[in-house]
Amino acid sequence: MAIPNNEAKKPAPPCHIAIIMDGNGRWAKNRGLPRTAGHAAGAEAFRKIANYCRTLGVQYLTVYAFSTENWKRSQEEVAGIMKLLGAYLKEALRDMEKNRVKFCFFGDLTRLSPELRKLCDQAQRQSREYDVQVNFCLNYGGRDEIVQAARRFAQKVAAGEAEADALTEGVFESYLYSAGVPDPELIVRPSGELRTSNFLLWQSAYSEYVFMNVLWPDFGPEELDRAIEEYHRRSRRFGGV
Ligand code: IPE
Ligand code: IPE
Ligand code: MG
Repeated sequence: MAIPNNEAKKPAPPCHIAIIMDGNGRWAKNRGLPRTAGHAAGAEAFRKIANYCRTLGVQYLTVYAFSTENWKRSQEEVAGIMKLLGAYLKEALRDMEKNRVKFCFFGDLTRLSPELRKLCDQAQRQSREYDVQVNFCLNYGGRDEIVQAARRFAQKVAAGEAEADALTEGVFESYLYSAGVPDPELIVRPSGELRTSNFLLWQSAYSEYVFMNVLWPDFGPEELDRAIEEYHRRSRRFGGV
């Protein structure tokens, strides 16, 4: 049978998608489970979405995994999240050649345990030749990122290695965790919350936000397709007409 040639071809996905992986706790509560069970289910959702992004041809996927504010949670919950991250990174290191994903970490990793930092470092070093990139935001805060960039630039000026008057948006960007990564065209936040919670404050200047009423552990390829469709319906003007 001939394939109808009016079959609409899917438009190319955004080059960079960012996701605020929110709603794990509520997902667990709805099932009478401990919050850590929600985080485990959230880690599964991440695995599926990362694979799906690869098949779609998305070049950069940035995920908010742990914020600078998330330390306020119980020690038990924080330890549970860190344990899941460690297990995920070990698995990623094992499957590195198969998946060919480049790992990057945005955030102040100095507050993580030495074991976790070592895994982050190994994942980053061993994957640097690959080109589909996953940026993990760990102990990440948009404000913290901007402050550390300003601090590093000021240190260069003080050392006589940079000129304050020569600072441009482009130069400033090179001090951010996201140096060299194009801004996300699309930022998705599941869980029903309508806020950024300190995510990618600089980089989101012209990002399209899609907020969805689904909890992160229930988020799958279908939900991502819907977010991308919504993104394609937007008219991006960047201040022009
Ligand atoms: C997101 O899910 C995961 C992290 C913030 C680490 P939450 O744990 O915030 O889930 P809710 O918002 O309480 O449902
Ligand atoms: C944002 O979610 C952080 C992550 C998903 C890692 P939060 O659950 O921490 O955000 P708030 O507290 O609802 O704003
Ligand atoms: Mg939350």
